[in-house]
Amino acid sequence: MRAVVIDSPGPPGVLRPAEVPEPVPGDDEVLLRVAAAGVNAIDWATRAGAGVAVPAFPAVLGWDVCGTVAAPAGQWRAGDQVFGMLRFPVLAGAYAEYVAAPAAQLARVPDGVDAHTAAALPMAALTVWQTLVTHGGLTAGQRVLVPGAAGGVGHVAVQLAAALGAEVTGTASRANHDFVCGLGASRVVPHDGATARAGEYDVVIDPRGGADFERLLSALRPGGIIVTLKGEAPGMRDLARARGVRAGFTYVQPDGAVLADVADMMAGGGLTAAIERVLPLTEAASAHEIGEAGHVRGKLVLAVA
Ligand SMILES: NC(=O)c1ccc[n+]([C@@H]2O[C@H](COP(=O)([O-])OP(=O)(O)OC[C@H]3O[C@@H](n4cnc5c(N)ncnc54)[C@H](OP(=O)(O)O)[C@@H]3O)[C@@H](O)[C@H]2O)c1
Repeated sequence: MRAVVIDSPGPPGVLRPAEVPEPVPGDDEVLLRVAAAGVNAIDWATRAGAGVAVPAFPAVLGWDVCGTVAAPAGQWRAGDQVFGMLRFPVLAGAYAEYVAAPAAQLARVPDGVDAHTAAALPMAALTVWQTLVTHGGLTAGQRVLVPGAAGGVGHVAVQLAAALGAEVTGTASRANHDFVCGLGASRVVPHDGATARAGEYDVVIDPRGGADFERLLSALRPGGIIVTLKGEAPGMRDLARARGVRAGFTYVQPDGAVLADVADMMAGGGLTAAIERVLPLTEAASAHEIGEAGHVRGKLVLAVA
């Protein structure tokens, strides 16, 4: 089958088209004919050798996928249109014509939703759900701060938080302010202006970690929670406790049941993916270059079928 592989970690140019063996599904796994693969920050980090472990080369990257069931398992039948974030943080191989997918990590694509949109959402939507709902406990009427609100995770966070009835502030470059307001934010500020209203927020997302974590702590009201997407470093919980706030950490996990709820939101028009660009699979290197530049609005998607 056709795929895009890497033979070693490196710059975007290490991504190359190749013919590789078709995957063989295991127990409770379907074989998917891939229509589209979503591109995430962890894809380019892993390609560069700074993401998840790659046990063997050549390796096929990609976790977010939308496709058609070719060999059924579990509740899925041949021909079903499904989407999911597969196996993360183990390699899944979505940058390919076929992928083997655990049945429990998939959800049905709602009628009227195209494959590019469905492939764009799984990792971002699961990350946001696990951050705002599971860790953050966000409820209607609370205030939430979403740094990077025009990005892959951020633009989904704004939509979900608004749908939950929260009051959303986003941070974005000037050119993205109207876009972020259009997603449901009531206020948009520059990235470095996020803490201008100190002590205001019940839930703060920290997408970048490091120095941002400490700076963003001051945005929280007493007892509020900051949820970091960049892993836990020594002292972070203690630092939060000393400031009278809480710290949580998201490391996104596959979850077909949550994606079924995401699908319902998509079907009802309450959630969609803004897609900056769809590129053919063979141009995965260009997608990584664009992503790594750090200002994607919404998501990048690779068209496979
Ligand atoms: N822990 C997990 O499970 C998990 C899961 C998914 C993602 N992540 C992490 O979450 C982060 C965001 O992921 P993503 O998919 O949203 O990435 P992305 O789409 O590549 O993010 C691009 C966005 O970053 C924004 N940005 C640029 N400078 C910024 C700054 N100084 N402060 C805040 N935002 C800034 C840009 O906004 P403007 O263009 O408006 O400047 C752009 O919208 C990444 O670090 C990723 O590794 C973690």
